[in-house]
Amino acid sequence: MRMNFGQLATGAGLAALLAGCAATAPVQSTGASAGTTAEASPATPEEMLARMSLKRKVAQIIMPDIGSITPKDVRKYRFGTILNGGNSGPYGDDLAPAADWLKLADEFWEASTAPMKGDEPVIPAVWATDAVHGHANVIGATVFPHNIALGATGDADLVRRIGAATATEIEVTGIDWTFAPTIAVARDDRWGRTYESYSEDPALVARLGAAMVEGLQGPPGEPGFLGAGKVAATAKHFFGDGGTAQGVDQGDVDGDLAELMAIHAAPYPAAIGAGVASVMASFNSINGTKMHGNAPLLTGELRGNLGFKGLVVGDWNGHGQVDGCTNKDCPQALLAGLDVYMVPEDWKALHASLVKQVKNGTIPMERLDEAVLRVLRLKQQLGIFDGEVKPSARALGGKWDLLGSPEHRAIAREAVAKSQVILKNHGVLPLKPGARIEVAGIAADNVPQQAGGWSVTWQGGGELTADDFPGATSIWAGIADAAKAAGSEAVLAADGPSGARADVAIVVFGEEPYAEFVGDRKDLAFRDEEGLELLRAYRARGIPTVAVFLSGRPLWVNRELNVADAFVAAWLPGSEGAGVADVLFGKRPATGRLAFSWPAQCDGTPVNGPEGALFPLGFGQDLGDRQELATLDETCRALTADNGATWFASGRLGMQVQAVADNAVLPDLRGVGNGITATGIDRKAQEDARRIAFAPGAKLTLTGPESAAGWRIVYQVENRPKGQVSVTAGGEPLDITRSLAVAEGKGWREMVLTSACLAEVGDRLTFASKGKFAIQISEIVRDQTASDAECSF
Ligand code: BGC
Ligand code: BGC
Repeated sequence: MRMNFGQLATGAGLAALLAGCAATAPVQSTGASAGTTAEASPATPEEMLARMSLKRKVAQIIMPDIGSITPKDVRKYRFGTILNGGNSGPYGDDLAPAADWLKLADEFWEASTAPMKGDEPVIPAVWATDAVHGHANVIGATVFPHNIALGATGDADLVRRIGAATATEIEVTGIDWTFAPTIAVARDDRWGRTYESYSEDPALVARLGAAMVEGLQGPPGEPGFLGAGKVAATAKHFFGDGGTAQGVDQGDVDGDLAELMAIHAAPYPAAIGAGVASVMASFNSINGTKMHGNAPLLTGELRGNLGFKGLVVGDWNGHGQVDGCTNKDCPQALLAGLDVYMVPEDWKALHASLVKQVKNGTIPMERLDEAVLRVLRLKQQLGIFDGEVKPSARALGGKWDLLGSPEHRAIAREAVAKSQVILKNHGVLPLKPGARIEVAGIAADNVPQQAGGWSVTWQGGGELTADDFPGATSIWAGIADAAKAAGSEAVLAADGPSGARADVAIVVFGEEPYAEFVGDRKDLAFRDEEGLELLRAYRARGIPTVAVFLSGRPLWVNRELNVADAFVAAWLPGSEGAGVADVLFGKRPATGRLAFSWPAQCDGTPVNGPEGALFPLGFGQDLGDRQELATLDETCRALTADNGATWFASGRLGMQVQAVADNAVLPDLRGVGNGITATGIDRKAQEDARRIAFAPGAKLTLTGPESAAGWRIVYQVENRPKGQVSVTAGGEPLDITRSLAVAEGKGWREMVLTSACLAEVGDRLTFASKGKFAIQISEIVRDQTASDAECSF
């Protein structure tokens, strides 16, 4: 294949380095068309822009997901950028081997650099991924602890090294850009993304966020910036993601703008100062206006006051949530200051509508040109126009020994050790040499759980096993090794006391993985009692215990704190579980300190600072500390009030239940998003029921606690569906169109959905409608007694 943009005779690596130096300044050009001669110097972004057709310009600002495009589409449309969402792997396989990522990257590269007719410049596409704690979408990569743990290390140099190692692993697989770091300042731990936040303290977030940017991209202004072995970083999500009311993901942030900026925009100047190449717009609204359509903030503040010169990328169909927009049609976002639309599936329709809107003057050509130039400049910074070669031929492409290398794993293990925070220690830690140790809990030997969300899959956990994390070390395996070295004996007793003599028991337990809104909670009570029962069982036998708690946030664990002799907040350590044992056995000091205040109550009132805190920001004990922890109050009203069985009743969703339309959150099953319009209606009391209208193709998903029970839904249908309606709780959807037609006009009735008609029954229920349809719902309850009863409508 003939490369027909500046593929110079110079070494690709050197050219990439030089391009890195050039940063945003246009590179020298002879003015020759970069599209025609192999000898010509690369054209400047401005020169390329001048030769682009309207269609190609629009394609530069559209970012589809690899799950819904092929290299053929890329060759035809010439998209500027592509992404893999958390659930998209090469060739439709989320569990694809690492080599497939590189192979697909080459295919996209070749498709986007195929010769063009006429004088249009050839512009390689770049690929972005969510390497948010290591390159964790890819099997075999080093999985670093999540940001909340890095916050507890407080160690900017360590974070910089993690960024550098992550960039290396990304480049090995041929990818150019990561959607990291998240520099949210999480202010309500009920938020499902709290673990993506370094701290509730804006200054700490600023410091660590900037360090991560430098690690990923290299120091700005120095040779090597964005060069070989470096990737473009993204500061996200601008802004207010960590400040939504009640910690509802994608919700509204209310308040005085200057005060909000002082907390939630505070980390941005540091990231911008570190040269961050892109900023992602946030899903949330501020004082009612969604950020993707918020010109005063996205342009006025970010460009004006904060002086950001790079590229603003949208979030997953985030533009579709702007007032008056759909995923397919949203000039508002570009006009507000977005440069690239992240439009995983609806790229074709969005491309068509944008082309039309530029033609008819809705969008000024200057705004489009500005956005396109920012995409081209990012590519220039990445060295892509200067003799860059296909991903597998780049400096690190295909160097598989760097993916999950011992050096990178050592950094991750160091981070794990430095992030352990000892909340209580009544003389059990460090573990004594020669001790006989039992290790209990399902989480003890469970790499997917210790990795958390955004690990191989979007949500993490679930069906994943240790085999999906080759080279990883579970917490148990780390303890076993350390015990051997200390002349101790450790046995795994996952289910609890083996009955043999033991000097100490380590109980590992905690939250199951989640990501984004799926992790939103209505209170901070940690409900799962497996760990609590294990701790009690050992105590009953007089065996001292160490609780190792895995979580994406501080939670109310007063019961566990009371019964355990030592309690360690271990966060979400990732693939190198041995770092936990390093501290438990005293091989490393316990330097971890809370980057979030730990709540005294379970109710979920935000705690940021000493008020309401059981342990304040900065708390954490050394191994030698002997602070007594007095017995804590164990009352928690939320625990008794809700058993997880009520999903919707009296106009409210259950405590642990979420409603989402595609990916737009509907708090309390009310709101508009992605084809769903859910409004409050009165059945027995004011607004105690909902009318849920589906646009053609719309989907509504409810998620809640895992259970094998069926669902009992009280509903009514005024008008039969116009197209197929189906329901699924996992696996093959069940067609319920006819049953709904039969229900037409018959008033309130009950639908019972159980494993008798659903392929799978777990923690979610999705209704999808191919045509226009509306249903009224007043109650959704999971019925434990008749889990395999007949289904009825
Ligand atoms: C998340 C972003 C992420 C994007 C791509 C969105 O849902 O909010 O943080 O980068 O998806 O996966
Ligand atoms: C996530 C993606 C994920 C998708 C699944 C989005 O919100 O950000 O990464 O693949 O949802 O539907």
